[in-house]
Amino acid sequence: MKKTGLLILLALSSIVITSSAQTIKKASVAKHISPDLFGVFFEDLSYAADGGLYAELIQNRSFEYTPADKKGWNPLTAWEYINDGFGYGELSVESSEPLNANNPHYIKLTITDEGQKGIGLTNSGFDGISVKAGERYNFSLFAHLISADPIPLNISLRSKKGEIYGEVNLSADVKNWKRYAAVITVNQTDADARLVVLAKGKGTLAIDVISLFPQKTFKNRPNGLRADLAQAIADIKPHFLRFPGGCLTHGDGIQNIYRWKNTIGPVEQRVEQRNIWNYHQSMGLGYFEYFQFCEDIGAKPLPVLAAGVSCQNSGGTWRIGSTGQKGIPMAEMQSYVQDILDLIEYANGPATSTWGAKRAAAGHPASFHLQYVGIGNEDKQTDAFRERFKMIYDAVKAKHPEITVVGTVGPAPAGEDYDLGWKFANQLSVPVVDEHYYEKPEWFLNNNSRYDRYDRSKSKVYVGEYASKGNTLANALAEAAYMTSLERNGDVVKMASYAPLLANQNHVSWNPDLIYFTNTEVTPTVNYYVQQLFSANAGDTYYPGIVKFLNQAKPDSVLAASCVKDSKTGDVIIKIVNAGNTASSTKINLAAIGKISPKATLAVLTGKPGDKNTAQRAQQVLPANSELAVTKSFNYNAPAYSLSVIRIPSGGRKMND
Ligand code: AHR
Repeated sequence: MKKTGLLILLALSSIVITSSAQTIKKASVAKHISPDLFGVFFEDLSYAADGGLYAELIQNRSFEYTPADKKGWNPLTAWEYINDGFGYGELSVESSEPLNANNPHYIKLTITDEGQKGIGLTNSGFDGISVKAGERYNFSLFAHLISADPIPLNISLRSKKGEIYGEVNLSADVKNWKRYAAVITVNQTDADARLVVLAKGKGTLAIDVISLFPQKTFKNRPNGLRADLAQAIADIKPHFLRFPGGCLTHGDGIQNIYRWKNTIGPVEQRVEQRNIWNYHQSMGLGYFEYFQFCEDIGAKPLPVLAAGVSCQNSGGTWRIGSTGQKGIPMAEMQSYVQDILDLIEYANGPATSTWGAKRAAAGHPASFHLQYVGIGNEDKQTDAFRERFKMIYDAVKAKHPEITVVGTVGPAPAGEDYDLGWKFANQLSVPVVDEHYYEKPEWFLNNNSRYDRYDRSKSKVYVGEYASKGNTLANALAEAAYMTSLERNGDVVKMASYAPLLANQNHVSWNPDLIYFTNTEVTPTVNYYVQQLFSANAGDTYYPGIVKFLNQAKPDSVLAASCVKDSKTGDVIIKIVNAGNTASSTKINLAAIGKISPKATLAVLTGKPGDKNTAQRAQQVLPANSELAVTKSFNYNAPAYSLSVIRIPSGGRKMND
């Protein structure tokens, strides 16, 4: 901030008011608030990664699915043996000569008689493979010729009935594992296509990691992300991205804890594992891809790592106070702590450092500018947790004082884990703690003053997961009203993210979510537009008392407003939420703010309280944008059931600068 700005803010200094519990400092005029306030939380649940954001089109590409992932699954799930040209042969799953130890299973194909069309296997993708006419797809596989002569391979994308949309020919010709790659151009659009790999010569070969990506991934990244889904996230303009999840991070038992080192390097060498949400993680979307995505969308990375304990709900005991939490044996904790220090080096260390070199080898010699590291996810507050958290926290603090550690205070806005979590965080002076709450809309409306009462001298807050249990406009407005309170308390609330972010409509493990999708459609919810309107219109200075609700005798829980200024643009942004059933007139007084432009933009999100965006009616509730003439003092009528965002350029700036 410029010196003059600093002086003005100091001159408008704070008053002190006293509550029975504690002394609270409350800014009377303007205060700095977190520039990172609104972000997103990505968790691989509801097929958010494989079958979702990760653009790989082949399901079970490495033949590593097992019944432990999900009852009935096995290494051939999503695959089928194919010999419809009357060929003879055999297909088996093997593990004696794997591609590498991390990827133990592969298939062996013996072709006794290739018949009229060859024999091989077909993959049905994640609920079908979606292909588009004219688009190019990057195909690859690893093969190992076991018999003597080269074996020709025909690879095609086809309709379910066998109509060929595009094909290429390869020849498996080496008696070692070798990667073969080709591009397939497709001549038809089909949401339910199949990939077919056919061997057209006698002999035996081993095959593994059969992969197919659209060339058009987000930012055209190899091993990249689905462009439309990634764009929907980017359009929120999130200031940070928390990943790779909540419960997924601390895992279903110690063996299932998410280990970041297993998720980097060549995809065929990554260690796949069961997903706590009852499916499988290929780890193709791993830490490098998460960091790169953060950079691509201008969001600060916020990786969350287990605090050395597994999820207390491990083993299906899904209730608060359950006993599934297990600690990594103390003898292994030093190495676990080192993994976390290594992550910081991987993200930020010079390309010459051990872990920085691995980042550079992946194509990113520059730092990823990691600033935050989350330790723990709503863990049960036990001695096992405290002991391990402290080991990690002390080590990170000692070696990396530049990193802000985000601790954890249980899964609810109050209760035993919340109280014990806060007590522990205060003992250790943890800089930021992660609060989670999934509550009814009324809770959000009635708890608007929650953070007004927080002690400013204690740990700051990251509201890492919250949602009002529904996707209607009424839900979204309750969240919006609450978000005005997060801005008002942006000196103590450093970050906030709605949860969960993504859900594949055919595999929903948790409702509600922010964005629903199928292989071909993306449906942002009404809640999504609230998140977007707040995040894209965030500020770093908060001005109280700018908006007055007229004809309002006493504070009303359905009316809320905030006013922030964004120092980068100088724009002033006013958000007004009317979650009630009648319009409410407001008076906006900008006398405390410097020069403003007379022309503002206005975005209004409104409709009937029960309105939702669904796959069938994806655009039922969308923000309507218009221009608004403004003066230093003006009236604005907030429609019933609405969020209005008024963005006023600074005096010297025109709207589209
Ligand atoms: O967001 C879904 C789950 O809710 C997260 O995994 C967990 O942290 C919380 O219980």
